[in-house]
Amino acid sequence: MSLNADKLWMDGEIIPFEQARVHVLTHTLHYGYGVFEGIRAYKRASGESHVFRLKEHVDRLFESAHILGLEIPYGRSEIAEACIETLKANSFDEAYLRPIAFLGDEQLGLGALGNRVRVAIATWKWGAYLGEEGLKNGIRCKISSFSRIHVNVNMVKGKICGQYVNSVIAKREVMKAGYDEAIMLDTHGYVSECTGENLFMVKNGRVITAPYGASILGGITRDTVLALAADLDVVVEERLFTRDELYVADEIFLCGTAAEVTPVREVDDRRIGNGRPGEITSRISEAFFDVVRGRSTRHPEWRQTYLDPVRGR
Ligand SMILES: Cc1ncc(COP(=O)(O)O)c(C=O)c1O
Repeated sequence: MSLNADKLWMDGEIIPFEQARVHVLTHTLHYGYGVFEGIRAYKRASGESHVFRLKEHVDRLFESAHILGLEIPYGRSEIAEACIETLKANSFDEAYLRPIAFLGDEQLGLGALGNRVRVAIATWKWGAYLGEEGLKNGIRCKISSFSRIHVNVNMVKGKICGQYVNSVIAKREVMKAGYDEAIMLDTHGYVSECTGENLFMVKNGRVITAPYGASILGGITRDTVLALAADLDVVVEERLFTRDELYVADEIFLCGTAAEVTPVREVDDRRIGNGRPGEITSRISEAFFDVVRGRSTRHPEWRQTYLDPVRGR
């Protein structure tokens, strides 16, 4: 992965990549009071490129800001257009997009009510977040010794910069121990989510995932998986579950914009199912990739086309 690109969008205009600098006294760098998104653009088999669920990601960016009481000085449609402008400025037919809204460097007191809200949108080429091998054959997970943030301690429905310390310490803990991803339990001991993905398990043909009201981010890929499962007539249960239920699950998979649909083959050194991606995981993964990269005509409302060489756009 290289973060490089020719251009990015910052504070209302497209600028050269190297000029996107902030001062070391930027408020958000110190305290994490800012919000961000992760979005993917895909090229389909038919040749056109689209941004996947752009509206939902822009809506969540504004909801995250609303949760914090941060006023983004642009409208939703301006930010959506800026995402597409940034992709086009780099001639990217596939990419990851990272919009971020943060407080500037005028004052460093915690309140800093007068600080300017700045917005940037970066884009770069990002392959399989948990590795091509993991995407195909499954990854190894470990339950983190750190709990997911309690819902009264921070506001997990927002994609809030500072909250990601919780994810980063868990991820680094398990990576250093030789695993691919951390599974986080909530403060009551129930399975919550991973550091940047929602988690699903399959038992006796039923798909089970933590309810939206649990200490999880309301993942847009989670919502996509729920819709695809309904399309496939797969029964989904949204309920709390425990780590030992994970150990005896038939299948487990993670989903997120970066991780897409990634099977899990091992948790805490225990093999899951037969140690290979299971049947339901594979059906959901195929349906997902068919919608984003393939020829599926399902859910056109999820795809915002921005490049279409066949139709000359
Ligand atoms: C903590 C956390 N959970 C879940 C997800 C998955 O969300 P989405 O599918 O919207 O990318 C993410 C990534 O954004 C995340 O950071």
